[in-house]
Amino acid sequence: MTKFCSSTLAVPQANTCVPQHVAIIMDGNGRWAKKRLMPRVFGHKKGVDALRETVKTCDALGVRYLTVFAFSNENWRRPDDEVSFLMGLFLKVLQGEIERMHQNGIRLKIIGNRDRFSAELREWIESAEARTANNAGLTLTIAADYGARWDILQAVHRLQQSEPDKAASFGEAELTPYLSMAYAPEPDLFIRTGGEQRISNFLLWQLAYTELYFTDLLWPDFDAAAFGAAVDWYRGRERRFGRTSEQVQATSSC
Ligand code: IPE
Ligand code: IPE
Ligand code: MG
Repeated sequence: MTKFCSSTLAVPQANTCVPQHVAIIMDGNGRWAKKRLMPRVFGHKKGVDALRETVKTCDALGVRYLTVFAFSNENWRRPDDEVSFLMGLFLKVLQGEIERMHQNGIRLKIIGNRDRFSAELREWIESAEARTANNAGLTLTIAADYGARWDILQAVHRLQQSEPDKAASFGEAELTPYLSMAYAPEPDLFIRTGGEQRISNFLLWQLAYTELYFTDLLWPDFDAAAFGAAVDWYRGRERRFGRTSEQVQATSSC
């Protein structure tokens, strides 16, 4: 039977269990294509297949939340044709996959700043989220035009607007409901493919105590076996949340 770990800082646990929330930076699409003498965008297309497989794997393992970085605030700096391709691909994936996701009980969430998206893309995002909102299966979050600094700032601004009395003095508990991922526990396991060992402005707040796993595999090559290897590595970690090893072992319940 699958057991889940809590990822809240308040409940430290040993983690012989399946991560409840996995966050992934899907990196390396361009290099994957370049190695095959193909245009970079070919790698992005293949990347969608890897994402589909990862969603299936998470579902099968009992992971409850999968959050993937698809397009960062900084990715607007890429060449115009690559940005347009990525926007078109995002729309196509939403249009082509939402019905199947819904049938599979997936709840889809999109986080990020939507201001620069086309009206059509924004409408599809809204309808995909609404269509799957009541599903009880895996929550798949796609971070698109997302950046953690943007997220923290928008949370502060929304708090100031909605609760001006708290604006002068607020703590973590007052701010976190306004963060984009308020509906999910903090990630237990972070995976970055593509060999870079950096966070690139992804979920800075929520990754405070996440286990960080880096692999040289390029995202289109990331399959169920690679995901399994990351989870196996995660199971070997002792999550202490500031406590001592002895304290953790005395309270471990997983
Ligand atoms: C990640 O792959 C996908 C996006 C950022 C959209 P890259 O496109 O960054 O691939 P590399 O890192 O150049 O190989
Ligand atoms: C991070 O990848 C963002 C996504 C995967 C969407 P990048 O390839 O853009 O990251 P940097 O700029 O090399 O750190
Ligand atoms: Mg990259």
